[in-house]
Amino acid sequence: MSEPAGNQSPVQMDLIAIENRHSSGAYAKRPVVMVKGQGASLWDAEGHRYIDCMSGLGVANVGHNHPHLVAAVSTQLERLMVCGEAFYNDQRALFLKELTALTPGDLNRVFLCNSGAEAIESAIKVARFLTGRSEIVAFKRGYHGRTMGALSLTWNPRYRAPFHPLLPGMIHVPFNNIEELERAMTGRTAAVVLELIQGEGGIWLADPDFLRQVRQLCDQRQVLLVVDEVQTGLGRTGKIFAIEHYGVQPDIMCLGKALGGGIPIGAVIWRDKFGPLSPGSHGSTFGGNPIACAAGLAVLQILAAERLPERAARLGRIFMDQLRSVKLPIIREVRGMGLMVGVDLRLPVDRVIKALMNERILATYGGKTVLRLLPPLVIPEVELSQVVAAITQVLTDISREIGHAT
Ligand SMILES: Cc1ncc(COP(=O)(O)O)c(C=O)c1O
Repeated sequence: MSEPAGNQSPVQMDLIAIENRHSSGAYAKRPVVMVKGQGASLWDAEGHRYIDCMSGLGVANVGHNHPHLVAAVSTQLERLMVCGEAFYNDQRALFLKELTALTPGDLNRVFLCNSGAEAIESAIKVARFLTGRSEIVAFKRGYHGRTMGALSLTWNPRYRAPFHPLLPGMIHVPFNNIEELERAMTGRTAAVVLELIQGEGGIWLADPDFLRQVRQLCDQRQVLLVVDEVQTGLGRTGKIFAIEHYGVQPDIMCLGKALGGGIPIGAVIWRDKFGPLSPGSHGSTFGGNPIACAAGLAVLQILAAERLPERAARLGRIFMDQLRSVKLPIIREVRGMGLMVGVDLRLPVDRVIKALMNERILATYGGKTVLRLLPPLVIPEVELSQVVAAITQVLTDISREIGHAT
């Protein structure tokens, strides 16, 4: 998503030019230089404040630069930065204990890594290792990352097309359709991988009956059920993990994004009953490093101390009620859970995102037509109302321009 450069200062222009000259080109960037964050606010290099409804794509659940997180990371920076899993570490042990106390049922075995995609890569390996089978069934509109294994499970043909051949035996079926899933399973199926709310795909919620049937089917076929909670995890949907809304026990769970509050971390967690991996079967130099573990521990403490999942549930209800009360024909549907919200529109969402940016509100897209809103869970209630007012104004203006009755 790239907007025309507005009225940036020469300093911003210079910095933008440097990045444009040297960065990969893999990202379409917005022409603004962010330099500071606090809570649900970001500031650019000219001191303009933005209300953040992106959270770095679901990372800043506890808010930008939460003082407890900053203190925990700073303290750890001074004590020990480098310590891989060849050794034990105090922060890692404490973090693993707290994390597994929160995961449902016997999800107690954790491989720590550095991102959501790496968690998915690891889950593919764990599933193959535990079952001795190779195929995985994933879902249309699903998103699991961009590395080669994760990309093989990501559905969007636009992301996949230039990179074939991808992993063999990765099959996509329609979401919330148990018959199609059953048809796609074979004697070689190791796992079914799904998001409980498809985020990138446009905020599509898993149907509770479908999920129960998936669990039954997996049990019958001895196939592992993998939930990708990289985006839904850590309080976002109104519970620590979205799977808690469904009352279904997954075999493997993938985490990333908000788990480190901004420090890169990923985790794949599986059930005790499957036992540990064997030494040497997997590895990652930075996995389980003490900085990320200290950050993860602090994030879990903040989520509990500030009751952020409960806050997300309460604010999410208010936010979605307000959004649903906006009666404009270009709004197809408002859907979501907690503070993971999508406004599905009858037009491409790009121009809405640009117009909101001009109002200093940061939002992103989910699919082509969905405005995806992922504010930090600490966002003040009044700011959510400001966001609704701005969305209403922007959509009203666009409706007028395109001649849609309002
Ligand atoms: C559901 C889901 N899984 C996996 C990923 C990949 O995470 P990362 O970009 O940290 O590798 C994402 C990223 O958006 C995601 O939303």
